[in-house]
Amino acid sequence: MGEEIVKIFDTTLRDGEQAPGCGMTAEEKLKVAYQLEKLGVDIIEAGFPISSEGDFQAVRLIAEKIRNCEIAALCRANFKDIDRGWEAIKVAECPRIHTFIATSDIHLKYKLRKTREEVLEIIDAAVRYAKRYTENVEFSCEDATRTDLDYLCQAVEVAIKAGATTINIPDTVGYTIPEEFAYIIRVLRERVSGLDKVTLSVHCHNDLGLAVANSLAAIKEGARQVECTINGIGERAGNASLEEIVMALKVRHDRHPFKTRIVTEQIYPTSRLVSQVTGVNVQPNKAIVGANAFAHEAGIHQDGVLKERMTYEIMRPEEVGIPSNKIILGKHSGRHAFRKRLEEFGYFLNDKDFEIAFQRFKDLADKKKYVFDEDIEALIGEQFVRSSDFYKLISVNFASGTDMQPVATVRLLIDGKEVTASEYGDGPVDAVYKAISKATGMHPNLEHYVVSAITGGTDAQGEVTVRVEEDGVVSQGQGASTDIVVASAKAFINALNKLRWRKEHPRRASSKGI
Ligand code: KIV
Ligand code: ZN
Repeated sequence: MGEEIVKIFDTTLRDGEQAPGCGMTAEEKLKVAYQLEKLGVDIIEAGFPISSEGDFQAVRLIAEKIRNCEIAALCRANFKDIDRGWEAIKVAECPRIHTFIATSDIHLKYKLRKTREEVLEIIDAAVRYAKRYTENVEFSCEDATRTDLDYLCQAVEVAIKAGATTINIPDTVGYTIPEEFAYIIRVLRERVSGLDKVTLSVHCHNDLGLAVANSLAAIKEGARQVECTINGIGERAGNASLEEIVMALKVRHDRHPFKTRIVTEQIYPTSRLVSQVTGVNVQPNKAIVGANAFAHEAGIHQDGVLKERMTYEIMRPEEVGIPSNKIILGKHSGRHAFRKRLEEFGYFLNDKDFEIAFQRFKDLADKKKYVFDEDIEALIGEQFVRSSDFYKLISVNFASGTDMQPVATVRLLIDGKEVTASEYGDGPVDAVYKAISKATGMHPNLEHYVVSAITGGTDAQGEVTVRVEEDGVVSQGQGASTDIVVASAKAFINALNKLRWRKEHPRRASSKGI
């Protein structure tokens, strides 16, 4: 008998996108979806179509374009949500309706104001309604881990009888612990008739830092689908991280004899893409994909790794697609070498995009002696993941020093027209930000500003991440350049583009507001 498969259900584009500052445009979501397809996920939860017109369009676009993954749409357990969800995914090769309702007494009493009986009826009706559209229906008991276990068994049984083909048990508030979650899964499997005929799934949140441990405990007890996100992004403390679950299953195959279809070498490129699209950096000590995940600092560790890498490394960086930090290209490198390196990264560009990227690479190589892999990633990220460009930077010039008040002039293309503005500031970045605000007429609060070096040396590329807020709408932006003031300008403009896009495309509902 072959090894059992654990299906990977990626919800980066739905639960991940719900995290503050992680909102994405339709084009950005599609870009991530293409990469998830390459990564080999089984199911992409593309969004929550009823939540906004923008999300509906994004889900429909993904359903049209992605051919090798199932495409799921989240819908609350009501007919309107299900109609809208189906409308968005019906063109997919393999569409899935994912419908849910809360089952815990806390949610029933305070949020739904419904009795247990009423909720069972809603489950039955919603799943039966979804089945009129497709065979492939997933049902989730929101807040399952705080639900009375007998009632949870009842709710799951009703969903199965109504035709659900996947039953998902979410730890919505990240409350459970591995032994308890294992027990819940065991009891469900023992008591619920028909559960052995459907796929049992889990969906864990990370409020106590246990999302991955809980998911693994559930797999041991028979769960054969895990719901997770790239970089663990998601509501509050996030969701179970895809890369951690997949690599735990792979590295500790001795204890978890299951397979996934993930192409692990695509993990790092996917992590980078999600971080560039959302503007949310991965913490340096993050397992698998953090900047320090394979860095050995202590002398004793370096010595051990140089003698035999297995002394301190339980997996090879190449296995997860982390490129070695070798010097790859310089200003004499030609198109062929550049294209080859891009393809190693997983970027297959058409001729027009390639020419733009190549010119940007040449400009960078003129300023920097060595161009590292990370520099190229930053450059490509900037070129291709930024979208909704209402504002484009044409030039930025500034002067500052110990004896003068910093001053900056920016030239922007705004909705197709060139606009120039100058301002003084407390420092060069402040002057640039004031000039950009004047030119765009946008004056958001700057909540967060971080500079980090992407590569080493005094000619390193600096990456700036900013978070801005206006009228309760938040957005993040990133920019990279060898000059950190220029990187700051790019990051601010990127954040303003997203902010304006978000303000023009407000969400109508949240997935938790039933
Ligand atoms: O956390 C949760 O309960 C969810 C459900 C909608 C599956 O995201
Ligand atoms: Zn969730």
